[in-house]
Amino acid sequence: MIVLGVESSCDETGFALYDTQKGLLAHALYSQIAMHQEYGGVVPELASRDHVRRAMPLLRQVLSDSGITPQAIDAIAYTQGPGLAGALLVGASIASGLGLALDKPMLGVHHLEGHLLSPLLSSNPPEFPFVALLVSGGHTQLMQVEGVGRYTLLGETLDDAAGEAFDKSAKLLGLGYPGGPAISRMAEFGDPGAYQLPRPMLHSKNFDFSFSGLKTAVLTVVKNHPGNVCEQDKANIARAFVDAMVEVLVAKCMSALKHTGMKRLVIAGGVGANKQLREGLNAAAAKRRYQVFYPELEFCTDNGAMIAFAGAMRLQQHPQAAKRDYAFSVRPRWPLDEIAIPA
Ligand code: KG4
Ligand code: ZN
Repeated sequence: MIVLGVESSCDETGFALYDTQKGLLAHALYSQIAMHQEYGGVVPELASRDHVRRAMPLLRQVLSDSGITPQAIDAIAYTQGPGLAGALLVGASIASGLGLALDKPMLGVHHLEGHLLSPLLSSNPPEFPFVALLVSGGHTQLMQVEGVGRYTLLGETLDDAAGEAFDKSAKLLGLGYPGGPAISRMAEFGDPGAYQLPRPMLHSKNFDFSFSGLKTAVLTVVKNHPGNVCEQDKANIARAFVDAMVEVLVAKCMSALKHTGMKRLVIAGGVGANKQLREGLNAAAAKRRYQVFYPELEFCTDNGAMIAFAGAMRLQQHPQAAKRDYAFSVRPRWPLDEIAIPA
C-alpha cells in the first residue's frame, strides 16, 4: 500500500510517499521560516497563502523522485489537526481535490500522532511499548504508548509548550525566530551558573509541566539588567534557560519511565532536535539502562513523511478509516487521546 502524506498545519509544507512494503519512497519539504522571521513568529494568513503556493510543486517532486504515477497511490493522508485553521484547510482541500480527481480514499491524521510515530521511520526504530515525550512549539506531553492508536496521556504542560518558551525567550533576548535553535547555539557559549533560573514543577510528583514562569524569569533578568544585555550575557542567560528546561524535561521523563515500568523512551517534536536535551537524556538514560530513541533530525520538525507513515499505520489496522467521502473538516484543537483506539 502506498500512502501520500500531506502536512500543512503550521509553517512547513510537506509531502511524502510511504510504501508499507518498501518504506519511505520520497519526501519533500518547504519551510516558511525565512518568510516569518521578519515578523518574529508565524503569521497565520501568510502561512496559509504560502502553503497554496508550495503544495503542487512539492507533490510533483515526490512523484518524480519516487518514480510512481499518481494512480499508484492507494490513499491520501492529510494533517487534520491540531494546527492553524487556515493552514490546515489548505492541505485538507488539496487532499480532497486529489482524492476526488484520482478516485482514491483519504483520511485525516492527527499531527501529534505523526510526531509520536516519527522515530519508527528511523533506521533503528523502537519497539512498543514506550514512553513518549512530545515537545514541539504547540505541545509538551508525556504519553504512554502501547501500540499504534493506544496512547495514554501521563502529563502535559499547564501553560506554555517547551518550544513556545524557547521561542518567547529568544525573542526577549533579541535572538531570531525560531528561538529553539538560536537559544541552543547561544547557550554553547554561556557560562554555566552565571544565572540561576527556576525549574518549574520539578518536584510536583506528577508528569505535568509549566514553562511560562521560566520565560517570565528570563524577562525579569533582561528587565533588571543594567544597560544593554551584551552578547556574553545573552549566552549566559541562554545557558541558564537551557539548563533549567533540560533538567525538568529529563527528570519528568525518568520518573515517567520508572512509574510505567517501561525501558524505552521516544522523543518527538521540534524541541527533540535540541542538542543539550539529547545529551541530558542520553546521560540520564544510560545511568538507568533505559534506551532513548529520536527521529532522524529532518523528521523532528514538521514534515510530510510522518503524516504518510501515521496514515499508513492507521490503514493497516483499520482499512476502512480512509473514505471516498471528500467532504473534509479540520480540527485546530484536537487532544491526542481522543483518537486513541481502546485496547
Ligand atoms: O514540531 P515543530 O516543528 O512544530 C510544531 O508542531 O510546533 O516544532 C517547532 C518548535 C519551535 O518552537 C522551535 O523553536 C523548536 O521546535 N525547535 C527547537 C530546536 N529546533 C526546533 N527547540 C530547541 N532546540 C532546537 N534545536
Ligand atoms: Zn509539529
